[in-house]
Amino acid sequence: MIGIFDSGIGGLTVTKEVVASSDYQLLYLGDTARTPYGNRSQDLIYQFTVQAVDYLFKHGCQLIIIACNTASAEALRKIQQEWLPKNFPDRRVLGVIRPVVEVAAVESITGRIGVVGTRATVNSGAYDRELKQQKSSLKIFSQACPIVVPLVEEGLQNRPETMKFIRNCLRPLKAKKIDTLILGCTHYPLLFKKFKQAAGKSIKVLDTGKIVADKLTEYLVKHPEIETKLTKGKGHRFLVTDVTATFKENAQKWLGQDIKLEKIDLQ
Ligand code: DGL
Repeated sequence: MIGIFDSGIGGLTVTKEVVASSDYQLLYLGDTARTPYGNRSQDLIYQFTVQAVDYLFKHGCQLIIIACNTASAEALRKIQQEWLPKNFPDRRVLGVIRPVVEVAAVESITGRIGVVGTRATVNSGAYDRELKQQKSSLKIFSQACPIVVPLVEEGLQNRPETMKFIRNCLRPLKAKKIDTLILGCTHYPLLFKKFKQAAGKSIKVLDTGKIVADKLTEYLVKHPEIETKLTKGKGHRFLVTDVTATFKENAQKWLGQDIKLEKIDLQ
């Protein structure tokens, strides 16, 4: 099984693309009792993420995608470098930042890249660090747009205020003449068209979920030792730490199907 972890519902945007491009069995875990992570400290985000990853490994996952940008930014490196070798040395944890920066570094012609995400993701500097690792000459401009997550969760995508918030959020990045925009938060792909419209023709907006799914396929081709251990089938399961009406409604809207939620405890 492949585990997909998110602070809540947002990881479903990645799940949808993984389901569309492969037939691996998925175990989704959304920490709905403690979402959002985006305004929390690094220590707490790390602690929560380790609990989730540990749970998914103990329940049969061989590979986990941390589909949450905030958790990828604040916890992934430490998990890969310190926690995993001690606890599950033969399993793997991947995030959503590396796949996207690899594409951004190639796609950007002027080398001026914009990143939007939660406060924690932007303050962590993880995108800057990873992009610079791809190409040290890149110029990165980041902007936190914390307001967008609750707007999406409340189903207010089509309200005029939402477009206004997006335009405000992109204004400083456009002033820096970026040519590529990374949507560094799981909720933003649900507003892909709006971000594209606000960005204008001269800025390429990267489709994060699709990129992560494509890179997963590439990763599994290169790592048969992991791929051969993954089960296939349609029996995906969806675990949450709190069963909420918002999750149910949004899950149906975003995935286009009804899902059964199973409540678990992480503490
Ligand atoms: N899933 C988070 C992310 O991608 C957004 C929601 C949150 O703040 O927890 O950054």
